[in-house]
Amino acid sequence: MLAHLRESVHRAATIVRRLREMTMRGEVKRDSVSLGDCVREATALALTGSTVTVSYDVPAKMVVLADRIQLQQVLVNLVRNAIEAIGDRSDGRIDIAAKEEKGVVRLRVHDNGPGIPADVLPTIFDSFVSTKAQGMGVGLAISRTIIESHGGELTARSSPGEGATFDIVLPTA
Ligand SMILES: Nc1ncnc2c1ncn2[C@@H]1O[C@H](COP(=O)(O)OP(=O)(O)OP(=O)(O)O)[C@@H](O)[C@H]1O
Ligand SMILES: [Mg+2]
Repeated sequence: MLAHLRESVHRAATIVRRLREMTMRGEVKRDSVSLGDCVREATALALTGSTVTVSYDVPAKMVVLADRIQLQQVLVNLVRNAIEAIGDRSDGRIDIAAKEEKGVVRLRVHDNGPGIPADVLPTIFDSFVSTKAQGMGVGLAISRTIIESHGGELTARSSPGEGATFDIVLPTA
């Protein structure tokens, strides 16, 4: 009983904290952030306890104007989702690549998991949409809010057998 109670309290606290994060519209503190460093730090955090292989193709001098903590939160969400999608298959891979295109930086996070079912894809950025038993379905909603508050865009695509691909577009610093 106590164990159940503790689990429920923890879950409720997490829901409240994440809802606050989602609705919080504080001042966005923007600094010149090294995208490569940000990606590596967030990935290291998200990968804890996972054996998935990650490849990076992010030019060392690429800089974006962003709130470093919020950008890391987005990356942690995307990488955690990829790890959760890959599950326990042993050849799991996540490829993270960035390139600069006229005035914007495009950061792509691709995984070789099962991909996103076509009937789920249109709603994954909505709050409380989840296909996971323990999922709250707020990770992507929060992530999109954060990227849009930076004047950017977060989109997803997936075709059968190709895994899932998330694209973050941000204005260059
Ligand atoms: N890389 C991915 N591969 C396949 N499906 C994905 C991927 N990322 C997200 N999804 C789908 O999108 C849904 C919503 O993701 P989101 O991160 O918002 O919520 P969640 O992971 O289910 O829960 P949480 O609130 O804990 O993040 C997931 O439940 C899953 O169905
Ligand atoms: Mg998630």
